[in-house]
Amino acid sequence: MTLSFRPSDILNMSGNLPPKVPHVFDEAYRGAVQRVLGECEPNDLIGAHQFRGSDRDRALGARFIGRRMQDVPAVDRVVVANGTQSILMMLLASLVGPNRRLAIETLSYPTMRTFAQHLGFQLSPIPMDGEGARPDAFEAICRADRPAAYYAMPTLQNPTTGMMSLERRKAIAEICRRYEVAIIEDDIYSLLPKDIPPPLSSFAPEISWYVLGTAKSLAAALKIAYLVAPSAEAAAERFWPGVRATYWMCAPMNGAIVSSLIETGSVDDIIEAVRAETRIRQSMVIDSISSSDLRSRPDCLHVYLPLPTDRPAQEFVAKVRALGVDVSPAGTYAMDDSPAPNAIRFGTGTPRDRVAFERGLFAITKVYRG
Ligand SMILES: Cc1ncc(COP(=O)(O)O)c(C=O)c1O
Repeated sequence: MTLSFRPSDILNMSGNLPPKVPHVFDEAYRGAVQRVLGECEPNDLIGAHQFRGSDRDRALGARFIGRRMQDVPAVDRVVVANGTQSILMMLLASLVGPNRRLAIETLSYPTMRTFAQHLGFQLSPIPMDGEGARPDAFEAICRADRPAAYYAMPTLQNPTTGMMSLERRKAIAEICRRYEVAIIEDDIYSLLPKDIPPPLSSFAPEISWYVLGTAKSLAAALKIAYLVAPSAEAAAERFWPGVRATYWMCAPMNGAIVSSLIETGSVDDIIEAVRAETRIRQSMVIDSISSSDLRSRPDCLHVYLPLPTDRPAQEFVAKVRALGVDVSPAGTYAMDDSPAPNAIRFGTGTPRDRVAFERGLFAITKVYRG
């Protein structure tokens, strides 16, 4: 099959963004910008660095985190930063660092491999089941490798969509405690699903660094994420201006806009709209790909599709691309060089609208049916 699409025509379904919901987002965002500019002196807002975020942004961040944690964290444990990646960079450099080890599921957020290369630490991949890290395998790794930290994504794991049960979270937290492994929890996919277990961090708060970003529930480029450190002292020690030359500090305007959205309750409207659109797209997936292997959930931005053995993932991806659509092979998410499962992942939110999404699904389904 020859490629008959210019790169600009390719529909990107390998990315994993929330669907755009301009009917709700645009008015909410415009209102927030106007309120911020009306309520503060611009030069006061922008005139000096706000190292861990302004007091107001941290207080509203704590309120936002209260959606996931029963006990709203004390404001001085909260850091407001320029997105989840910035927080991860800071934490990995200081909690792990050169020649030490990070435990992580065998398939996970690909950027973690890049961080390992940049920062000079090693990865200890943990074998998984449908919920994520297997406790027995994790404990064996803790014993053999003595990792400094565990990067956890217990809610709608990327790429597998796995969700750790309450019991699994307790078991994993207990192992971390026993082997003195710090928990870096990335809970970025947790705001769309309802009635899910509390964060892993709530079972071992004294060793946990809990990160709740807005990129997968509100909009990808708001560039605001919140961190809850184990203590006020730990937050201050790891996040102070002289500690490291990175770009963790949020732009004050971004922080203030998200604070305003939280204060007025507009975040609820945006999250509800993103959730509603995601559910519709996920039901389109179920209607098109009727396979018992399919791993998807109504409130998940991505879909994980194991493939039959006679359809290698790389070949599958190439065939879908020849139809003008990009999806990713599971190998993209592999944390070591051992053979990855024969599967693909695609996102539901990146196509601009349902018509584009349907076109993408059509291409995937066509190749899947063979
Ligand atoms: C698991 C996970 N964490 C973090 C991010 C990025 O978050 P941010 O844009 O806030 O840095 C992504 C984006 O793909 C992700 O999949």
